Amino acid sequence: MKSIAVWTVKGGVGKTSAAVNLAHAAAADGVRTLLWDLDPQGAASFYLRIPAMTDGAVESVTKRSVDPAKLAQPTEFDNLSMLAADFAFRHLDLALGASRKPRKRFAAKLAGLAETYDLVLLDCPPSVSLVSETVVKTVDAILVPVIPSTLSMRTLHQVRAFVADHGRGAAVLPFLSMVDLRKRMHNELSLACLADPAFLTTAIPSASVVEKMGVTRAPVAATLPSQPAARAFAALWREIRERVWG
Ligand SMILES: Nc1ncnc2c1ncn2[C@@H]1O[C@H](COP(=O)(O)OP(=O)(O)OP(=O)(O)O)[C@@H](O)[C@H]1O
Ligand SMILES: [Mg+2]
Repeated sequence: MKSIAVWTVKGGVGKTSAAVNLAHAAAADGVRTLLWDLDPQGAASFYLRIPAMTDGAVESVTKRSVDPAKLAQPTEFDNLSMLAADFAFRHLDLALGASRKPRKRFAAKLAGLAETYDLVLLDCPPSVSLVSETVVKTVDAILVPVIPSTLSMRTLHQVRAFVADHGRGAAVLPFLSMVDLRKRMHNELSLACLADPAFLTTAIPSASVVEKMGVTRAPVAATLPSQPAARAFAALWREIRERVWG
């Protein structure tokens, strides 16, 4: 089993949209996938129509006795299950801080999921916190959406520095998000990003079908599979599979 977090310190750059669409693409590819929503906003859970967890969400991360596999809910898609978020996740830092070895505990939680899943994809909040530190220290890879803008690219440096300081060998996999090639700056900065061999080469376009996921409450490929954005997420998934599984 592989664990991949979608995380960056910048908010609103397409983490949740990518997490949901990539989880769907992986599941459609026959990979038994669990999407774990760690963000108290619960947007990934909302997109997949999974109700917030009422009990045990925080404990599923922090307490040895609570098995996250038992709290996972099936989605309407084959091979795709979800661990929903809860607004109580706003206290997750405190709860993790109270446990003696948060990283070990979380690593044990992920290891316990390996019987049932081939991939755990974690949708993380845009914070630098004990939650992100614990995730960064535990997962195999970190997907970082980067809008081709100065500030978004700057946060990639911050993510890399954070992972270099706190990570334990997780691969940082940046990709271009919300690209609008009608904008000269997006063109120029996209080229600059893609000159970096660490970048995944598939760019996710800025597309209204992605925004409309808030209305359809489904991955783009489930409603409009021939749209460029749906194809881009599928291509991005294939690149991730190649990089992470080899
Ligand atoms: N490729 C895209 N094209 C157009 N709009 C997009 C795209 N990706 C995301 N969006 C829109 O941008 C907003 C933020 O996206 P999303 O929630 O995926 O970002 P996020 O990084 O998870 O945000 P947060 O940091 O709040 O968790 C949403 O309104 C979403 O619909
Ligand atoms: Mg999000």
